[in-house]
Amino acid sequence: MPLKIVRNDITKMDTDAIVNAANSSLLGGGGVDGAIHRAAGPKLLMECMTLGGCKTGEAKVTGGYKLPCRYVIHTVGPRWSGGNRGEREALISCYKNSLALAKKMGCESVAFPLISSGVYGYPKDKALRVAVETIGEFLAENDMTVYIVVFDKDSYQIGGKLFADIEEYIDERYAGKRSESSTIMRSRLMEEPADFCAESTMLSAPSAMSLDDALKQMDESFSEMLLRKIDESGMTDSQCYKKANIDRKLFSKIRGDKFYRPKKSTAIAFAIALKLDLDETKELLMKAGFALSHSNKFDIIIEYFIVHGNYDIFEINEALFAFDQSLLGS
Ligand code: APR
Repeated sequence: MPLKIVRNDITKMDTDAIVNAANSSLLGGGGVDGAIHRAAGPKLLMECMTLGGCKTGEAKVTGGYKLPCRYVIHTVGPRWSGGNRGEREALISCYKNSLALAKKMGCESVAFPLISSGVYGYPKDKALRVAVETIGEFLAENDMTVYIVVFDKDSYQIGGKLFADIEEYIDERYAGKRSESSTIMRSRLMEEPADFCAESTMLSAPSAMSLDDALKQMDESFSEMLLRKIDESGMTDSQCYKKANIDRKLFSKIRGDKFYRPKKSTAIAFAIALKLDLDETKELLMKAGFALSHSNKFDIIIEYFIVHGNYDIFEINEALFAFDQSLLGS
């Protein structure tokens, strides 16, 4: 999974590099800056003193010293002052310059805190969106594993409206409503078994196809259907697996093995990358041996995004993380 969102203390991350949300002096401070300096030891400050500071939006690199990572990339985020003073552009360049420096240093993995979302007051949901979008654009062109490290739950927020919409969608389909709907189903089945069954069959039937096609597709394995759908979409393999937040190694395993059995999150990630509708998603999942279920919040959140036509896998992962669910991708 090229982009992961994890709960952790960034000083514990054993990635090739970690990014520090510093100030322009580069001489340490509070928050993640203070934590990194404390964990790295005094030699980090001594090296920082030779760098001559850092401008907002720029990035400079030092050794990791006592930290598990090899490098620390120091960047200075913008202070939030309402959003009309170029804060977004400055924050984007923090991520872009840090990623470019990590690539230049030959890093295969890098961990970011949510820059500017603490002392500098950048609204957390906006800070997260900038991070995910900028890192996502970089990963579309580069092979690297990038972590967004969330220190505590309060420092993580997705958009309020999105969160409320998803919460309502889950409530309507999850535990509470389930007993009520099964009562309705039972009573209707007793009164009009024929109509109800016909209706429910129509509701769940995949789009109509000839018996011959259906039998043909019955034999199609998960990876055969996946490769067929990639061809039909006009995407290249790499465009598809990057949109699915899947790394190259896993994709070549799937491509090389007709009977490959993916994890459920991998199968769904490809359905999202291919922008499959709900029926086709269920069909692809079924070929991998899975189904979407309303007794599973993860599945309901996926269904929410498909039904609303939002196939941005990084936004979906932000929401999954906010609801303490596992993320999409390898
Ligand atoms: N690991 C991961 N993330 C952390 C950690 C940690 N150990 N400690 C704090 N964070 C998170 C905060 O929860 C916040 O989400 O890092 C994010 C950035 O918060 P700050 O550290 O306050 O950084 P920022 O908002 O960019 O302000 C920078 O604060 O510490 C000073 O010297 C720094 O002046 C600079 C300013």
